[in-house]
Amino acid sequence: MATADQIKSLISSYATEDRERFFAVALQVAAHEAKQGHSSLAHEIRELVDKERRAQHKQLKVVPFPQDLKGLVITETPEVSMSKLVITSSIELRIRRVIEEYFQQSKLKAHGFSPRRKLLLVGSPGTGKTLTAKVLAHELHLPLHIIQVDRLVTKFMGETSAKLRQIFDLMRQEKAVYFFDEFDAIGGERTLENDVGEMRRVLNAFLQFIEQDQSDSLIVAATNNPRLLDHALFRRFDDVLHYEQPGKEERQQLMKNILAGFSNSRFSWTKLMSASEGLSHAEIDQACRDAVKLAILSDQKTVAVPALIDALQQRHHAYHGRT
Ligand SMILES: Nc1ncnc2c1ncn2[C@@H]1O[C@H](COP(=O)(O)OP(=O)(O)OP(=O)(O)O)[C@@H](O)[C@H]1O
Ligand SMILES: [Mg+2]
Repeated sequence: MATADQIKSLISSYATEDRERFFAVALQVAAHEAKQGHSSLAHEIRELVDKERRAQHKQLKVVPFPQDLKGLVITETPEVSMSKLVITSSIELRIRRVIEEYFQQSKLKAHGFSPRRKLLLVGSPGTGKTLTAKVLAHELHLPLHIIQVDRLVTKFMGETSAKLRQIFDLMRQEKAVYFFDEFDAIGGERTLENDVGEMRRVLNAFLQFIEQDQSDSLIVAATNNPRLLDHALFRRFDDVLHYEQPGKEERQQLMKNILAGFSNSRFSWTKLMSASEGLSHAEIDQACRDAVKLAILSDQKTVAVPALIDALQQRHHAYHGRT
């Protein structure tokens, strides 16, 4: 049975039409029931909350982007859950903290705090930055707007700040995950010699927009060039996540996820570990997919280790320009 405080919170969040608070309290009731050993009731409550949140997500009003932003912003509703992401436990914890704070934001706001919702993802190509933005959108039941910053800058040199303002205005109107990809296109060090006045203005405008932003949307920016990023930018984000090439454990996990039904217990992981060393998540992902396709086409139930090693080597060669 829910506690008296929980029942009171449920009633008050219903009365104030605070749906997220209502769901958060319902999840507390589920946790309470689980502790009492009522696991199937806890499970049922969680399922109900999840179903309702999804239904709400479907009803979300998607504000059409202004015509002149078309082609610069891609909108998706990704179906990628957290389990797809292979990352270090420290990054995973921080992503989970964003999700937790988002769902419990009214509790935080009641005490004068705001949830963390401005993130900077830094790391080499193919390590999961875009994937993280997709996972966040999916887990938070929000649409994902991918803003291609490099194109925004080159196409509208001279009016980039105005375009950015349009995007920040939309953030208030439509709650979503706004993902600024290739962010270094505007994040370059403000004092660099080759820095033109326009770029400095764009960066200053962005800094101002992000600082003033009071929306409920998530702002996620990604770059694979941290050296170019201005220090003033780092301060504006609630958290900065550094993505790295996958270690041994992550490489194995990644391969297991993709090979799934196509691996067996006799797999020589040692050989695969050394063949995959130095490759990014994306490259390993691609090599595994190539090997699985080969197995399917030759009617084999499992992937042959030498074929997978070959596919991994091809990725190494692709990177170093050999064939
Ligand atoms: N950490 C990861 N866990 C699982 N799969 C991953 C991970 N990183 C990359 N992948 C796979 O590689 C694909 C490409 O990765 P993603 O687009 O997220 O890389 P990125 O860091 O955004 O790279 P870039 O800097 O080039 O934009 C993903 O769709 C996924 O299939
Ligand atoms: Mg990316």
